[in-house]
Amino acid sequence: MLANDRATAVQADSQAPFYEAAGDEAAVFRAAARGGLPVLLKGPTGCGKTRFVQAMAHELGRELITVAGHEDMTSADLVGRFLLKGGETVWVDGPLTRAVRAGAICYLDEVVEARQDTVVVIHPLTDHRRELALDRLGTALPAAPGFQLVISYNPGYQSVLKNIKESTRQRFVAIELGFPPAEAETRIVAREAGIDAATAGALVGLGNAVRGLDGSPLREVASTRMLILAGVLVAHGLSLRGAVQAAVVQVLSDDPDVVRALGELADAVLPRP
Ligand SMILES: Nc1ncnc2c1ncn2[C@@H]1O[C@H](COP(=O)(O)OP(=O)(O)OP(=O)(O)O)[C@@H](O)[C@H]1O
Ligand SMILES: [Mg+2]
Repeated sequence: MLANDRATAVQADSQAPFYEAAGDEAAVFRAAARGGLPVLLKGPTGCGKTRFVQAMAHELGRELITVAGHEDMTSADLVGRFLLKGGETVWVDGPLTRAVRAGAICYLDEVVEARQDTVVVIHPLTDHRRELALDRLGTALPAAPGFQLVISYNPGYQSVLKNIKESTRQRFVAIELGFPPAEAETRIVAREAGIDAATAGALVGLGNAVRGLDGSPLREVASTRMLILAGVLVAHGLSLRGAVQAAVVQVLSDDPDVVRALGELADAVLPRP
């Protein structure tokens, strides 16, 4: 029996999303989840925010409902709306309402790009009331136990303060995710791309060289995601240099001078073929 139980446990674990922690982010998230506190996840693109939330939801055994923010998003997109179905008007829950009812984690990805009325909807969910106003139905829905709001944003190019009032913002617990330390990032790149540790290490070395550029003209630096994509190209037969050119250098900039400079940096940093 015990052996069987163990086999089940291992199988369940093998379905856990792979997430390599860089610091105490998991401990902070767990404590916030237990306390029912909303979380603000900040970090550059491709640094593991989405993967982190997926891993935490799995660990906590909570359903994860993800909403991708965009500038035209309205509160109805989050909360729900009346729709005409077969001649009848029926109410259809939006993703936030579904999460509030189900006690799920609602991950609002880059929701700070959204309009102000979406932020108004979020506010009462973040304080002691923990309720969602369904104005169109004339009710307020209390959040089921387990409901947790997680908002992500990239402080590099969004002015979150423009859209989130300080009084809302201060109800969140903030977790900052950056790029992982080289050793950890090498394990991530090797595993996700399916390449050996030496190749992954070379890609991470290049990534860190790009990140360390002084007075960089780049909008964004090389992300873990970008290094993984280069690794995938290598795993499928491209040379390391070819992969770096296609997945890193040409993606980071369109400016011929910058592209040339990045190419030279890659030549200097990558091991000789
Ligand atoms: N710490 C990590 N552990 C495991 N995988 C990681 C980690 N960080 C990044 N990754 C890998 O990098 C990819 C990109 O990460 P993810 O999609 O979570 O980034 P993100 O921060 O959500 O980016 P964006 O802001 O663009 O949405 C993941 O699919 C995963 O393969
Ligand atoms: Mg993401």
